[in-house]
Amino acid sequence: MTNQNTRNVPATTGGGFELAPASKSLFIKTFGCQMNVYDSERISELLVPLGYTIKDALENVDMAVLNTCHIREKASEKLFSELGRLRAHKRRRSAIGKQMIIAVAGCVAQAIGEEIARRVPEVDIVVGPQTYHRLPELISRIESTSGDTQICTEFPVNPKFDELPVERKGGSVSAFLSVQEGCDKFCTFCVVPYTRGAEYSRPVDDLVTEAKLLVECGVKEITLLGQNVNAYHGQHLGKQVSSLSVLIERLAALKGLSRLRYTTSHPKDMDLSLIDAHGRIPELMPSVHLPVQSGSDRILEAMNRRYTVADYLGVVDKLRTARPDIALSSDFIVGFPGETEEDFRQTMNLVKTVGYAQAYSFKYSPRPGTPAAAGEIQIEDEIKWERLQVLQNLLVEQQSKFNQSLVGAATEILIEKPGRYPGQLVGRTPYLQPVHVAAKSDNQELNIGDIIQVNITGSSSNSLMGTLGGDYIND
Ligand code: 5AD
Ligand code: SF4
Repeated sequence: MTNQNTRNVPATTGGGFELAPASKSLFIKTFGCQMNVYDSERISELLVPLGYTIKDALENVDMAVLNTCHIREKASEKLFSELGRLRAHKRRRSAIGKQMIIAVAGCVAQAIGEEIARRVPEVDIVVGPQTYHRLPELISRIESTSGDTQICTEFPVNPKFDELPVERKGGSVSAFLSVQEGCDKFCTFCVVPYTRGAEYSRPVDDLVTEAKLLVECGVKEITLLGQNVNAYHGQHLGKQVSSLSVLIERLAALKGLSRLRYTTSHPKDMDLSLIDAHGRIPELMPSVHLPVQSGSDRILEAMNRRYTVADYLGVVDKLRTARPDIALSSDFIVGFPGETEEDFRQTMNLVKTVGYAQAYSFKYSPRPGTPAAAGEIQIEDEIKWERLQVLQNLLVEQQSKFNQSLVGAATEILIEKPGRYPGQLVGRTPYLQPVHVAAKSDNQELNIGDIIQVNITGSSSNSLMGTLGGDYIND
């Protein structure tokens, strides 16, 4: 139901909307996944041509966007407490006769847009992940007409990508590129199919164009993003491609692009052609994020994950055959409804069997409207904490061991940014670990964007130390 103080804006109109350039400031706060980071970049690219300058703090800005995440607990509490802060800023500005536009974007906006407008009427705009391209039009309405909250969360007929500016800014040597969005898998714990909508893959040619623009801005590494990235099936030469590997192959051929990654994969969509690409395409980095969630077949079935532990281990084997040095990372949920000690033990066994380079693990968080939230046997929080601790201890131990295994070895790093100390730079290995190195050698000066050979001299659970060595590989 629409609140009296809100306007539901149809998602099917708009596109090509023009707003007069102004000199204004914009603060964007991003929560959650890499997809949200990508979306926030696109929001800034959409608004900068309208005269907005991006600020890294909230003080005195003309507009603030909260790009929200709904994947786990407390998302809405976090949002409402942030909105409390924003409301105070807005009131202070109003007292001196200045306007401040507050926009809420992302998955919480999609899920509870009406509630946001009702509880915090100072919010001017609510846009979902598929409708943020409408921001210029919505800003214009707020500036010129009523003070009602503009809510635009209907899933549009045309994908937002058709309406976003073609230009990309890049901004760093490693960039995200959203290739697929939404999900049709409906894992019983997950809100994504409800907040991001049905699975959609962008056409190959559009992605090649966007990647080229990024490379022209100095990007050396692109991470292809999708909630279910390896379900990618975009149009290519008049047909739907059958594997993400087709897109990877096209992008790997781009001159100046040195590294490709993709995330997040579903084990069921790990097709042979994609697995094979790891052995075939040198630009495709030897690390794969392959969330398993649980090591118990019973729980995997209750989660509607559509694979068994044996299927998962089969994929791991094939990946390691195609690329023996591949590093695996994963996501785990502990305390899913009905999870017994035995189920949890099987998860621990799976971790020991696979051996992960890195992993994220979470306590199960009931998400409103998802089937598992109604599961009868919810696990007590204390048990979830205990299991999480036990699992994380093992995962941290495996990560440290993996990092330690590189000490004494030579590897390539892509230099991304200055380090914390003067004269230090930070780059990433093919396996994604950050490496701290001295910025200068006797005969060369290193720059951000260079790919260099280093010898790994030390490790911690999160990063590596290195010294310069070997060849200078800059493209
Ligand atoms: N509770 C806990 N973790 C979750 N994830 C997704 N939904 C939930 C939930 N309801 C985790 C999964 C997923 C990652 C992005 O977040 O592990 O892979
Ligand atoms: Fe969520 Fe991933 Fe499952 Fe899709 S495949 S429902 S995004 S956990």
